[in-house]
Amino acid sequence: MHMDPRLNGYLTRALTHELAAVQQYLMQARLTGLWGLSAQSTQFRRDVNEELVHAERLMERMLVLGIPCNATQLPPIRPGRTLAEMLEIDRKLEIEAVRLYEEAMLYCARRQDEETQALMRALMEDELGHLKELDQQLSELQGE
Ligand SMILES: [Fe+2]
Ligand SMILES: [Fe+2]
Repeated sequence: MHMDPRLNGYLTRALTHELAAVQQYLMQARLTGLWGLSAQSTQFRRDVNEELVHAERLMERMLVLGIPCNATQLPPIRPGRTLAEMLEIDRKLEIEAVRLYEEAMLYCARRQDEETQALMRALMEDELGHLKELDQQLSELQGE
């Protein structure tokens, strides 16, 4: 396959997103742990694992395509002062991910790169799942 700077760009942005999400959720797992919210802490820790698996899948694809597995500079971490604020921040992060994967997926479809397209679709579906979970947690919080 020929070098495609735009595809490289999508994969690099995706890897950066996943590593930023790992950093964000890991910090939130520890912070909610310190607050004594152990169920929420466990949930964030599970999210860390899922985002890490996403990063690994992207890296594997980049290796196959001969693209360097470098993320760009990670965005600053945003802790949130309350659990509700945390979940809102994470919601925005997941929405950005869905948009990125949707755009990347459409681009791969145009280029007829079916394998990368399938990966982008799978990741987008996972992020939609994360978004749904966050919405559920937020509505439970508001119901309390
Ligand atoms: Fe992810
Ligand atoms: Fe996610």
